[in-house]
Amino acid sequence: MGYWEDVMGGLPPEAAEVLRFTLMHNRWRRFETINLIASENVMSPLAEAAYVSDMMHRYAEGKPFKRYYQGTRYVDEVEVRAARLLGELLGAEVDPRPISGTTANASVFRVLAPCNSKALIAPVQAGAHVSHTKFGTLGALCIEHIEMPYDAENMNVDVDRAVKMIEEVRPSFVVLGGSVYLFPHPVREIAEAAHAVGARVVYDAAHVLGLIVGKRWRNPLDHGADVMTASTHKTFPGPQGGIVASRDRELFKRIGRAIFPYFVSNHHLHRLPALAVTAAEMKYYGEAYADQVVRNAKALAEALAAEGFRVLGEHLGYTRSHQVVVDVRPQGGGAKAATLLEEANIITNKNLLPYDPPDAIKDPSGLRLGVQEMTRFGMKEDNMRDIARFMKRVLIDREDPKRVAREVTEYRREYVEVRYTFDIEPPLKDGVLRLLF
Ligand SMILES: Cc1ncc(COP(=O)(O)O)c(C=O)c1O
Repeated sequence: MGYWEDVMGGLPPEAAEVLRFTLMHNRWRRFETINLIASENVMSPLAEAAYVSDMMHRYAEGKPFKRYYQGTRYVDEVEVRAARLLGELLGAEVDPRPISGTTANASVFRVLAPCNSKALIAPVQAGAHVSHTKFGTLGALCIEHIEMPYDAENMNVDVDRAVKMIEEVRPSFVVLGGSVYLFPHPVREIAEAAHAVGARVVYDAAHVLGLIVGKRWRNPLDHGADVMTASTHKTFPGPQGGIVASRDRELFKRIGRAIFPYFVSNHHLHRLPALAVTAAEMKYYGEAYADQVVRNAKALAEALAAEGFRVLGEHLGYTRSHQVVVDVRPQGGGAKAATLLEEANIITNKNLLPYDPPDAIKDPSGLRLGVQEMTRFGMKEDNMRDIARFMKRVLIDREDPKRVAREVTEYRREYVEVRYTFDIEPPLKDGVLRLLF
């Protein structure tokens, strides 16, 4: 803090205030809280270092070695390597230019469906992302969202009814994968039905990319999906961004022509070295990491149930992904539970459950939890049981969250080093964030 106090002391308030909040954010979120947001993660120290390069200032419109700008020779080499490494891990061609999962979805949807066509996608309460809906990307592209039949009890697509609907509606494409995602979707069955009516299958792996790469989740491209989109920063612990992957050359090329120039111009080049470093780490450590993520999620679900919480999916073993979903209506609902937990330094998000009405979005019944980030910091099954106890004290025993927060901060001190990454020497071993903040 001393260094920063000196720096801020010499700055006008407009800049000093922003730096102070940034510093406080870093301290709090990185070193004092237990983060259970299912869509977040942290990069390794090496990837963070690679992220902070001069590439953050440059442009490279177009494809590697065919750019509209000069000065891109090293960017080209890095982008080719990032795409190649991810391609090896997924057994597909990969385009790393979408700057987010949403941008990846937009590019794919634009290519697969003209305006006024139809797409079959799960309802929002069942885990469709906003980019799959009329309020988001799908609506912006004037594609109609037809709700895929969903089985709330099994937290999965209702295959028989979905197949029938595909035959009746004959959509341009079907989307599988989602934001609330406990069990693998039936890709093969849906792909067969979709292909029979000339529809394509898009698999949105935003949440499970890291589990697919780590071989703890089926690769949808092996099961008939035509194209996969993903974020690169959820279970895949890379920089914030997106990818498109496909084994269909022709389709892949058409999507590439939509990414640029329709949806990105500059594709935030500083992501690319960090993405390539993360892909290399996942090549060597991805299986061990994904294995522990899946074990931890199951352990957290079991521990929460044992503490008295209503955890979804019990008859199916609670979860096979990084997520755990809890119905917290007995604890006052999702909004209240998430707020109380935040006061206790446990960060979660309120979430619609499949049986909620869609307009319950401000105070839904559920909490969605993800264990991937805490797994990266070395937590194992025993830690999941400790987290469940902290949550019980706040939400069931109604202990003062501030008191629990102090214990959570103390607890977190033991878990600040990122695992499943290359072993590098100090000072970079501690990460640029710790060096800077
Ligand atoms: C299923 C799904 N698809 C797409 C996205 C969008 O990803 P991004 O935030 O990278 O745009 C998300 C984000 O949470 C998601 O859950």
